[in-house]
Amino acid sequence: MNKRLKIVITGANGFVATNVRKYFSEKNIELISISRNDFKEFKNEQKIISKNYDEKTILPIIKNSYALIHLVGIGNQSVETDFHTVNTELTHHILNLSKKAKIKKIVYTSGLGVSSNTALGYFISKYNAEKLIINSGLNYTIFRPSYIVGKTDLFTKYLKKQIKNKMIEIPGSGTYSIQPIYINDVVQVIFKSIIESKFKNKIIDLVGPDYISFIKYVKLFSKGNSKIKKINLENSYHNAINNPKSSFGVDDLNILIGNFKGNHEKLRRISGIDFKSIIELLKSGILL
Ligand SMILES: NC(=O)c1ccc[n+]([C@@H]2O[C@H](COP(=O)([O-])OP(=O)(O)OC[C@H]3O[C@@H](n4cnc5c(N)ncnc54)[C@H](OP(=O)(O)O)[C@@H]3O)[C@@H](O)[C@H]2O)c1
Repeated sequence: MNKRLKIVITGANGFVATNVRKYFSEKNIELISISRNDFKEFKNEQKIISKNYDEKTILPIIKNSYALIHLVGIGNQSVETDFHTVNTELTHHILNLSKKAKIKKIVYTSGLGVSSNTALGYFISKYNAEKLIINSGLNYTIFRPSYIVGKTDLFTKYLKKQIKNKMIEIPGSGTYSIQPIYINDVVQVIFKSIIESKFKNKIIDLVGPDYISFIKYVKLFSKGNSKIKKINLENSYHNAINNPKSSFGVDDLNILIGNFKGNHEKLRRISGIDFKSIIELLKSGILL
């Protein structure tokens, strides 16, 4: 890929965005990365700092870029920030900016479990964002990720912190399952979705090859060196509802208990990537 292909990334300071920016920068791609707060640029990167993604600041710089990767999103809400405003309305604003800037392609990370049947506020906000993208007329790829794991995602950081105390607390029985995907694989898929036409106008589950119970994941992660304390699910929800600082928010719990399973085979076929087994990664201790 050559330097003429300019790529815009929103939510630049986030976990996925930081990894995508690093990978793209190493591939010599020209980046324009937008964040609400200052950050250190990678090679080939121009930064834009904007609290509210205002058109005046952003439009002249992103004009005629090839693609925009929209990585802004929240998974927990508060009186200051709610799902509709951040996940749906801001996406609407970004789509308008993209059209004005004559950007051709948009890549979006929605969520595994998003569907027209959903009853969860988080998923509804992502579903509505998906609809806006689909109806925008732009070439799009929408990914629906399960847990994206690496060394610095929130979930991994939570587990590392608990391991230090030799006690990992898990909500409920832990028998519900997740389908984590490794961040190093995610950045490759996102890259391919921009340069390969088979990703055009597709919605694809972003899930790893292993569908494993939460308790098994935690046991493999801690390599048996920590006790696992099961917190009664009612107590977990009670804490999530009443304590904004609780480790698992209401929507985190809803998603966990939802047991969502995605189509890894489709992702493997379309991307041609040999995805890392999360079970093998956990056994190797690479995430610790
Ligand atoms: N990580 C996962 O396992 C996972 C799973 C499913 C879906 N996703 C989705 O993938 C995307 C990236 O996830 P992530 O793990 O990288 O999340 P993250 O680390 O929380 O990053 C999200 C970024 O969104 C921006 N943001 C948050 N609130 C905002 C607001 N009120 N206004 C403007 N920007 C705001 C922030 O960017 P700045 O600080 O740079 O402004 C933040 O760093 C999100 O849409 C998330 O919902 C992630």
